[in-house]
Amino acid sequence: MDAKIEKISKTFCIIGDPVEHSLSPLMHNAAFKKMDLNYSYIAFRVPSSELRESVDSLKRIHIAGFNVTIPHKVNILRFLDDFDNDSKLAGAVNTVKNENGSLIGFNTDIYGIMNPLENRISNFNGLNILILGAGGACRAALIGLSRKKGIKKIAIFNRDKNRLNEAINLGNKVGLDCFPYDYTDSKKLDEVSKASDLVLNTTSVGMQGERSPIEKSSITTNTIVFDIVYRPIYTDLLENAKKANARLIYGYEMLLNQGYKAFEIWTGLEAPRDTMKNTLLGIFGEPQ
Ligand code: ATR
Repeated sequence: MDAKIEKISKTFCIIGDPVEHSLSPLMHNAAFKKMDLNYSYIAFRVPSSELRESVDSLKRIHIAGFNVTIPHKVNILRFLDDFDNDSKLAGAVNTVKNENGSLIGFNTDIYGIMNPLENRISNFNGLNILILGAGGACRAALIGLSRKKGIKKIAIFNRDKNRLNEAINLGNKVGLDCFPYDYTDSKKLDEVSKASDLVLNTTSVGMQGERSPIEKSSITTNTIVFDIVYRPIYTDLLENAKKANARLIYGYEMLLNQGYKAFEIWTGLEAPRDTMKNTLLGIFGEPQ
């Protein structure tokens, strides 16, 4: 019999809204193929109002695992059976594994955010950081940053006050000095951005071509600007950062790094990093 036919098949997916432009299917399918696994990965658009039913359905069809993206990273928690330590700390999940019928939550966004940062920053001592957004990705960033010594201040800008306060409380609880700001206060945003060593966008703003609230004139050449939005590769924020001669961290770097860890959680195998990276860069082209 053909060895391939004997292989166990497994299905994985990503749930989010919007999710049509996700490159996770491409990246993981390339990795499965490279590792000769008979696995496949698809995308499902799940609106917030259907999250519970959708997770129940995934459990019923014995999905092997899935990723969770905007806007479900926090709300998914109540529908899972158990969590790893990092996702418990962050109160946010981006990766789920089905272990014998139980859905277990993990947070690989922490590594996804911290690995690209650690490649650029050897010493976090004294840093002023600006974070846009207060959802799941912000919470992952706060847990990752709490493991670095000496960060001076973290300013978080968000529209929704409740979510903002929850993120501030989380950051302060894990030992960071976090301060809340209104996302629409452009004067304050301009002032804080100019004084920041690192600007991190954790919102979905830019995905649909929206303008960033941070202008070129608010970014200094010494600032590192990291946008977790990966499509388009040059969001308005990264365009502004490039024009300001700042240092850029592209969203695809987070996508890749969180993806390596998710692959490893699901398969127990080391991720084929080059294959995953080349697959993504085949879409984007190496940024100039
Ligand atoms: P996820 O769980 O994937 O992080 P989320 O918890 O819904 O998704 O968080 C998304 C973040 O992006 C939130 O901080 C959200 O701001 P609000 O809390 O004010 O809703 C932010 N966000 C999404 N769309 C935005 C927009 N158009 N302008 C500003 N912020 C936006």
